Amino acid sequence: MSDGPNAPGFFIVFEGGEGAGKSTQAAALTDALVARGHRVTRTREPGGTPAAEAIRAILLDPAHEGLDDRAEALLFAAARGDHAQRVIRPALLRGDVVVCDRFMDSSIAYQGVARGLGTQTVADLSLWATGGLLPDLTVVLDVDPQIGLARVASPDRLEAEPLEWHRRVREGFIEIARRAPHRYLVLDAGRPPEDLATEVAVVVDGLLA
Ligand SMILES: Nc1ncnc2c1ncn2[C@@H]1O[C@H](COP(=O)(O)OP(=O)(O)O)[C@@H](O)[C@H]1O
Ligand SMILES: [Mg+2]
Repeated sequence: MSDGPNAPGFFIVFEGGEGAGKSTQAAALTDALVARGHRVTRTREPGGTPAAEAIRAILLDPAHEGLDDRAEALLFAAARGDHAQRVIRPALLRGDVVVCDRFMDSSIAYQGVARGLGTQTVADLSLWATGGLLPDLTVVLDVDPQIGLARVASPDRLEAEPLEWHRRVREGFIEIARRAPHRYLVLDAGRPPEDLATEVAVVVDGLLA
C-alpha cells in the first residue's frame, strides 16, 4: 500500500489550535478510509494508552495552573513515547493507516514556540521519546484562534491561555509546515468541514495509491 518511511503502514496527523476541527476531520477521514477498505487505527494525543491518558488528565487539569514549562514538555514527551511504542508503531507494522489527533508538532508549537523552550529542543525530545517516529503526512488546520476558541465549550488548562499565546501557537504550526512542505497540507479551517474532509480524502487517496 505505502512505500513511505512507515511502510507497510501510513501515519497521518491532524494538527492545529483549539477548535480548529482536528477531531472532526480525524473522524471524517477515518470513515472515508474504512469505506475504501483500509484498516485504520484512530488515536489521539496526549493519550492513546492508559498511561498516556493518565498523563493527559494531569496536563489538562485546570488545577495544575502554573505547571513548570519543562515539566509540561517532559510529560507530553513521556505520553508520546508510550503511545508511539505501544500503539502507533505496532499499528504501522501491521499495515494500518494511523490517523492521529495531534502529535509532535503540537509540542513544537505549544512548548517550543509559545512557551519559548525552543523548537529544536522540543523536536529532539519528541524524537528521542518515540525513537524517531515521524508522520508521513501532517494536515495543519489553520484558523484564527479567536474563531477556533469560540467553537470550544469549556476551556481546559491550555485552552485558557490568553489569545496572544494562541496566536504564537498558530504561527508555530505555519512555520513548522513551511520548513518541510512535502510532508504537510495546510488548510484554511474556516472553510466548511465537509469541504475540508473532501480535500483531505483526495490528497490521502493520492498518497496511498
Ligand atoms: N470547519 C469547521 N467550521 C465550523 N465549525 C467547525 C468546523 N470544524 C469543526 N467545527 C465545530 O467546531 C467545534 C470544534 O471542533 P473539533 O473537531 O472538536 O476541534 P478540535 O478537535 O480541533 O479542537 C465542534 O463543535 C465542531 O463541530
Ligand atoms: Mg479535538
